Amino acid sequence: MCGIIGIVSNKSVSTNIINSLKKLEYRGYDSAGLATISDGKINEKKCPGRVEKLEKILFQTPSRGNLGIGHVRWATHGVPNEVNAHPHSSEIVSVVHNGIIENSDELKKELEKSGKTFKSQTDTEVITVLLTEKLKKLEPLKAVFETLETLKGSFALGIIFKEFEDFIIGARRGSPLAVGYSNSENYLGSDSYALKSMTNKISYLDDGDVCVLSKDDVKFYNSNKDKINKEIFTLSEDKSSVSKGNYKSFMIKEIFEQPNTTKTCLKEYIDKIREEINFYNLPVDPKKINKVVLIGCGTAYHSCLVAKYWLEELTTLNVEADIASEFRYRKVKFDINNLYIFVSQSGETADTYAALDLCKKENAKTCSVVNVVESSIARHSDCVLPIHAGPEIGVASTKAFLGQMLVLYLLSLKISEIRNDIEHKEYKKKIGELKKIPKLIAESLKEEEKIQLIAKDIYKSKGSMFLGRGSSFPIALEGALKLKELSYLHAEGYPAGEMKHGPLALIEDGLPVVVIAPKDKYFEKTLSNMQEVIARGGKVLLLTNSSSKVISENIRFQINLPDADLTLTPFLFTIPLQLLSYHVAMFKKCDIDKPRNLAKSVTVE
Ligand code: G6P
Repeated sequence: MCGIIGIVSNKSVSTNIINSLKKLEYRGYDSAGLATISDGKINEKKCPGRVEKLEKILFQTPSRGNLGIGHVRWATHGVPNEVNAHPHSSEIVSVVHNGIIENSDELKKELEKSGKTFKSQTDTEVITVLLTEKLKKLEPLKAVFETLETLKGSFALGIIFKEFEDFIIGARRGSPLAVGYSNSENYLGSDSYALKSMTNKISYLDDGDVCVLSKDDVKFYNSNKDKINKEIFTLSEDKSSVSKGNYKSFMIKEIFEQPNTTKTCLKEYIDKIREEINFYNLPVDPKKINKVVLIGCGTAYHSCLVAKYWLEELTTLNVEADIASEFRYRKVKFDINNLYIFVSQSGETADTYAALDLCKKENAKTCSVVNVVESSIARHSDCVLPIHAGPEIGVASTKAFLGQMLVLYLLSLKISEIRNDIEHKEYKKKIGELKKIPKLIAESLKEEEKIQLIAKDIYKSKGSMFLGRGSSFPIALEGALKLKELSYLHAEGYPAGEMKHGPLALIEDGLPVVVIAPKDKYFEKTLSNMQEVIARGGKVLLLTNSSSKVISENIRFQINLPDADLTLTPFLFTIPLQLLSYHVAMFKKCDIDKPRNLAKSVTVE
């Protein structure tokens, strides 16, 4: 998704803009650009492709200037090419934009009627053209406010003006925007992460806010054009480094980090002395909760689904899990006694944020489970439960998924205890079991070599299926999603019991079918479903526990995972699925960290 940078300084800014754009690469993009102002001229450089390409262009023809804006674009209006890349500049003004201007077609038609011309197919260029007109009569801040009044949709903007080499204007409606502070230098950025290498002092714009950044000062205005003050946050240091180390990709590094990330997360939430789960500030008394509604997108939605099984198993509560892009447009009946939990790695996903916003408007009680604690979703929910996984760079989510499940499991257990839905002894026992997770994950990771051989056998297949029952069903969905995302191999995740109602027709000779069958109450039934697949020629990879002792010569591959408390199954059975998708993608020579067409942080609908 698009990302914005702005820097105003007492020294040349283009190198730092490039470095910050590299930090925004994780969001997924297809073109990049920057504009600086020097000697009374706007220097615009842009190109389709990677930031590295832009860097090479700058190396050949440097852009001078102590103030500038940069952008990585994820195409929405118009193909990814040089003309459509941001910034969009006229003779006198240059604009970078994240979001979508919904009335751009109408505005464009009106402007064309009055003789204005457009170079690109983007929605953003209308902002440049409107501003250029208004700047003939108005000073920059007024021109920006007037332009904003004509725009519909969501946006974060960074704007520079040829005549003014000492300030940048930023504006936010919908899409996130942060301001960073340093000595004789101030910054604008789509998220704090992009600014972290330059400063740890951050303010966040709220909806409708506008800011004016000069090198020694930042002024903020609200949508009524009143001057306002902003709180300055000090960001926490990231202990884990954002480099691949000796690994071939961020994704495989992140998979192998999971014993550590789960350990850190457990340390954050479990009081070692009292053997107790610490959750403070829940916005509603668990005894009074009527229903829990879990909301997320993609992998985060799958962790919501797993948590639904846990909460139903451990508590007497009603539980729903919902996809954010559906929830936000349905006629949902809100209840003040419901707890709405928003799950998001980035904390910036537009649909999840919109669903949260809807709940806030209804005065509903909200809580977020996020990795990025400075994110919009975290800042706007009543209570934040961080997953403490450290930066996740690979587009396909791995360690964040385990982190989300872990926090949701801890929360389920704690709610169950407070409501007296679980016996105290059982509660303590489960806490004890939880502490084994990091070690059990480390053991599961040892299956990698075997999984690599399986990947070699199946990577040329045309399709695949993933089956599971109970909490293994969302794990099947996640396994299928991971394989699709990374290797572009078609994969369907299905509840094993639903096979006979249609998907069984897809089974043919040699089709890889991953069967997730831990030794739980569904075990025998899942094995029967597996036999139905084998009878029709399916090539089965069975994931089960060491103690299951399944022997069937018709099972093509079998991975035995460590025996553990059954509620921990989703943590362990996810590991081989992550490794499988990684190795299939490696055999297919896919771009592991940046799969085609996908973005890490999806900030448009
Ligand atoms: C994108 C990412 C997925 C992620 C989903 C939700 O599609 O590629 O990996 O699961 O967004 O993102 P979130 O940051 O809200 O967890």
